[in-house]
Amino acid sequence: MSNIKDYIETNKQRFLDELFELLRIPSVSADPKHKQDVFKTADAVKTYLAKAGADHVEICQTAGYPIVYADKIIDAKLPTVLVYGHYDVQPADPLELWTSGPFEPVIKNDKIYARGSCDDKGQMYMHVKAFEYMMQTNSLPCNIKFMIEGEEEVGSNNLGTFVANNKEKLKADVILISDTGIIANDIPSITVGLRGLTYVEVEVTGPNRDLHSGLYGGAVPNPINILCEMIAKMKDENKHITIPGFYDDVDVISTEERAEMAKAPFSLDEYKKSIGLKDIIGEETYSTNERISIRPTIDVNGIWGGYQGEGAKTVIPSKAYAKISMRLVPYQTSDKTFEQFKTYFESLAPSSVSVKVTNHHGGEAAVTPMNTIAYQAASKAMETTFGKKPIPVRSGGSIPIVAMFKSELGLDTVLLGFGLDSDAIHSPNEHYGVFNYLKGIETIPYFYQYYAEMSK
Ligand code: BES
Ligand code: MN
Ligand code: MN
Repeated sequence: MSNIKDYIETNKQRFLDELFELLRIPSVSADPKHKQDVFKTADAVKTYLAKAGADHVEICQTAGYPIVYADKIIDAKLPTVLVYGHYDVQPADPLELWTSGPFEPVIKNDKIYARGSCDDKGQMYMHVKAFEYMMQTNSLPCNIKFMIEGEEEVGSNNLGTFVANNKEKLKADVILISDTGIIANDIPSITVGLRGLTYVEVEVTGPNRDLHSGLYGGAVPNPINILCEMIAKMKDENKHITIPGFYDDVDVISTEERAEMAKAPFSLDEYKKSIGLKDIIGEETYSTNERISIRPTIDVNGIWGGYQGEGAKTVIPSKAYAKISMRLVPYQTSDKTFEQFKTYFESLAPSSVSVKVTNHHGGEAAVTPMNTIAYQAASKAMETTFGKKPIPVRSGGSIPIVAMFKSELGLDTVLLGFGLDSDAIHSPNEHYGVFNYLKGIETIPYFYQYYAEMSK
């Protein structure tokens, strides 16, 4: 397979141009304004998969955005890899903080700047180009299926139904996903854990209308003040979450495993510097890496209410709102956590206000096994192209469908991601290294080669 490097060298510009075409379509799944763009992106992905050599390429409609399915079955006796990715992206705002248009991809300092460049169009498209290479060189050693969805960033609401209704079509031996990262370009790693998620919205209502803050202030409940007090009560002085029962099911990691995890290189100074912090916070007895991987959290993602315009307006608002997320770890479940949150949040509300709690979307945590042929193949593939054995790490992010693939299809996932934490996914100026894009394309065919060899 030595000529994958030559193939990349020869086709590099085209690989970039094609990705740029995808990046130019603003497939923001959260914003109904972009509905046509999301559908258009599905069509573009379909066209690219067909061009790369897939046999059956289909746009599968769902109650929401479509799932693009494609396959190349070379021999029913050979193992089958199911590639999952997503073509939808996060909203680009705040727009004014981008140094170039979020949907006008450009290369600056060897990095591709655009919304979705890393999460996940760039990483998903590496698989399409690796597949093209294997087709062109007649070296595809197993069967391959693609399932590329358009609702990942809004909770994959229709993917569960699709998977449940298409078990035969999706029959495979392993799931392969590039939607995570590596520690650094010279420190390859493979993600072996993801956190779960419960995402809620709360509404606190005080008086039946906005009131003059002079005429009424002091005698009536201010829903913003009260919401802040309620949120403040959700963690104690040790940064422990106070929701009753919240930690009941939390997986306790052994000292040995924690020691193993602590071997991953990490510099607290660089960490702080990279995000402009003088100091960090978190649970006392856990390291930074543990706080963002094996421990659950609660965070306010947005809070609003009252007057937000120019100048000052003296007002006690009628309502206050917040969006709150909880990242979960193995054995906690999204639904149970929601119920615990709701009961506790309601109990914190003084009788002077009313509260409403709604569940947005969620998902379960996942730990992917390392004692599988697929993991070994991925590890060996990275070792081949990076010259170093990848380190297994647990990530703090969430890809809820990984747990769903295990429960619905009984399949393990390999998280062969190539992004960096510094790629600013979900933030202004998201980017993806040209190195990472091409390294992914180079590594993936080795995964197939080793996986097929090891499966024999
Ligand atoms: N690709 C990310 C998740 C991710 C990124 C995991 C980097 C590990 C490392 C995915 O697109 C994402 O953003 N997931 C959401 C959850 C989803 C339900 C909206 C998240 O983690 O917030
Ligand atoms: Mn993603
Ligand atoms: Mn994302």
